[in-house]
Parts: sequence; C-alpha cells; structure tokens
Amino acid sequence: MNNLIVFEGIDGSGKSTQIRLLESKLLEKKIPYSVYREPGGNYLSEKIRDILLDKNMDICNEAETMLFLAARAQLTNENIYPDLNENKLVVCDRFCDSTLAYQGYGKKIDKEIIKKCNLFVTRNLNPLMTIIIDIDYENSLLRMGKNKDRMENNSKVFFEDVIVGYKELALQSPDRYFVVDGMLSEEEIHDLIWKKINIKRSI
Ligand code: TMP
Repeated sequence: MNNLIVFEGIDGSGKSTQIRLLESKLLEKKIPYSVYREPGGNYLSEKIRDILLDKNMDICNEAETMLFLAARAQLTNENIYPDLNENKLVVCDRFCDSTLAYQGYGKKIDKEIIKKCNLFVTRNLNPLMTIIIDIDYENSLLRMGKNKDRMENNSKVFFEDVIVGYKELALQSPDRYFVVDGMLSEEEIHDLIWKKINIKRSI
C-alpha cells in the first residue's frame, strides 16, 4: 500500500513543527513510520542539499532543477520504496510538488519537463496525500529568520509565484491535496491534519 504523506509549503510555513507533532502522534499510536526531508535523507542527497543551499554557490536554474531531481531519485530508491515495502507510513518534508512550485512556477522552468522528470526519478510514485500549509509571504518572512540559505534568499516576487503554484496544483487535483491555513494555531493545524490522514488511510 502507498502510505506516503507529503508536506509542502513555502519556507517558514510551519512544516517542520507539524511534522514533529505528527511524529509524536504516530509514536503514541504505535504506527511504524519514517520521516525524510527533501533534499536529503541519505548520504548523497544530503551532500546535494549542502550544495543547493550554499549561499556562496552560483547555480543556474537548470542545474538547480536537476540537482533537486537527483536528490529525489536517490531518496526514493534508497529510502522511500524500501520503507513503503515494509508497510511503514512515510512522511516526507517536500517532494515532487516543491520542484513544480519552486523551479516551475518560481523559476519558470518548463513544468511539463519537470512533471516528466518527477515521474522518472520516482518511478511514478504519487503520494497518498499532500498537505499544503498555506501562508502568505509577509508571515513566512517573519518566521524565516535572518540567516537565510541560498533558496530563502529568493525575491518576494519569486515566493509569491511559488504560492500561486501551490494553489494551482491543489485546485487541479483537489482529491490529492489538503490545504490548511498556516495561520491557525499549531494544535488546530495538527488536529485537522491528523483527522484528514485517518480519513485517507481508511479509504
Ligand atoms: P527546506 O528548507 O524546506 O528543507 O527546503 C530546502 C529548500 O529547497 C527550500 O527553500 C525549498 C527548496 N526546494 C526547491 O526549490 N525545489 C525542490 O524540489 C525542493 C525539494 C526544495
């Protein structure tokens, strides 16, 4: 069974907090799970992450896209598929939609190429459910902190395009996405997510 749950949203949307709360719930309920972040999760993908987030690195948009995809290929093969095969619930902090939103909508890389590459690097793996934590740019900026990485250093216009991207993706496939208001309290967001995950897993 495909038990892959993905969290998406712009930087500072509160994904990490929600993933921590979900982990506590999964531990409490004794549900076997694993958590990964993208890019990252294994030796190669963490190395690629270091390159991608390095403020001193000059990376063209095409190379950036391919590096995110390479990290995803390794994570899917080395970690996600083996865990799903062991019937674990796999929680992933970002996945294919981050590349569509950030490199497609944000950096204007051809979205059809990204879609094809996403299918290639994941061997056609689609999440059971994708949670988008929706927050506006001003509030995300407040939460991002001062020491920004290479990706967080992108412009306001860039992030606003990324937000539009996430909204469009959710509208295109409402069954697969759950958009939650990132300005609700941590507990409210967690409760909504937990309810939705249970509905999805029982279908
Ligand atoms: P994180 O800060 O949420 O761990 O993600 C790393 C950064 O990389 C974040 O700014 C979003 C960005 N990113 C992309 O631009 N494209 C992608 O495909 C992924 C996975 C992340």
